[in-house]
Amino acid sequence: TSFGKPEVTSQSTQAVLQEAAEKLNSLQTVAFPTETVYGLGAIALDSTAASRIFSAKGRPPDNPLIAHVSSMDMLRRLLPEGYIIPQNCSILMKHFWPGPLTLLFPTNPSIVPPIITAGQPTVAVRMPSHPIARALIALTGAPIAAPSANSSGKPSPTRAEHVLKDLDGKISLIIDGGPCGVGLESTVVDALQSDGNIRVLRPGGVTVEDLESVMRQELGDHAPKILVHRRDYRDEVMEQSPTTPGMKYRHYSPTVPVTLLRTSHPPSDIRAIPLASFVETLKRNATGELEVGLLAPSDSPLLAKITAFSGIRWRVHPLGPIAHPSVSAQRLFDGLLTLDGAGVDLILIEEIQEEREGLAVMNRVNKAAGESKWIRMDSSCER
Ligand code: TXA
Ligand code: MG
Repeated sequence: TSFGKPEVTSQSTQAVLQEAAEKLNSLQTVAFPTETVYGLGAIALDSTAASRIFSAKGRPPDNPLIAHVSSMDMLRRLLPEGYIIPQNCSILMKHFWPGPLTLLFPTNPSIVPPIITAGQPTVAVRMPSHPIARALIALTGAPIAAPSANSSGKPSPTRAEHVLKDLDGKISLIIDGGPCGVGLESTVVDALQSDGNIRVLRPGGVTVEDLESVMRQELGDHAPKILVHRRDYRDEVMEQSPTTPGMKYRHYSPTVPVTLLRTSHPPSDIRAIPLASFVETLKRNATGELEVGLLAPSDSPLLAKITAFSGIRWRVHPLGPIAHPSVSAQRLFDGLLTLDGAGVDLILIEEIQEEREGLAVMNRVNKAAGESKWIRMDSSCER
């Protein structure tokens, strides 16, 4: 069904929230801001409402949704009656809720329809910190299922304009809350493992370092291990047994080709290409003048060197200082969507260090990029 042009509103007034809550309660979808990315919400307790999310996004039905709550009472309603929340989960909630952390819990299948959990025994729950998101959930009076508000496979939206451009005609209301602060999705964590360890299923807004430090602070030598999947989703083992169903799909891809430029030391079986040769090849394969989008830290040596090559129109979207990966996180999806919308021929992204927010950034970059190249920048060995 087409709803025509969705309304975009910047007055986050009670009236707008009221209207959005009414739409949600009449089983429609509403796009709303969270601190991570914009979400496409529907009541999490109703399978018709939830099915509208899947059709608007073109989302595969085996990829479960996160239920967003505004209070602990709302969380408890989703869980089996009398369920005692494990200590690791309680600690994580105490420190990171509300915020960009999603936790798995055993689901109550008589309350949570299986379309939300894709038939899994667990339900993923998050309490967002964004005031509009919190107010909307509270006003609606029910948990809201919300994936990122983009067509399946595209980068996640961090501004209301991104949502409008992508989902125009497919959803009835977008609440404009300005740009998202975190810029990448929440960290999805499984703290229910029988070995007591905590598994990060999807790196995100809460860093592994944050998780480690909080568990150490609370439990000292008894702190659980934080296990992270660093493997790419294209990894075959991962494909066969994805830990979080969303990981197996192609993701975050703009319409134009994306190449990851790796500047770290290559593995022994790979020879890095001199930067000049790489740029020459780009030019040789182009028909007219190339316009190339570039996402790189503002103080990166690669950025300075590559944009000095003539014969290419460079369109740079800086990712903030190397020392601040949180800025790269905030700017990555915006950069991919903005450059894609500007009609560049291709997008290059420079690798950043997989530390703190950099881990989540590189997780998304690896999925967005169709290919990656190791680049050598020393001019002495060019060609
Ligand atoms: O920041 C976010 O998490 C955003 C905002 C809108 O809150 N939402 C979001 O939702 O990123 P989505 O649907 O794009 O990603 C949800 C991820 C997927 O990778 C999915 O497979 C995983 O969470 N997930 C959901 N339920 C799960 C479950 N029961 N077990 C394992 N993974 C689950
Ligand atoms: Mg998503």
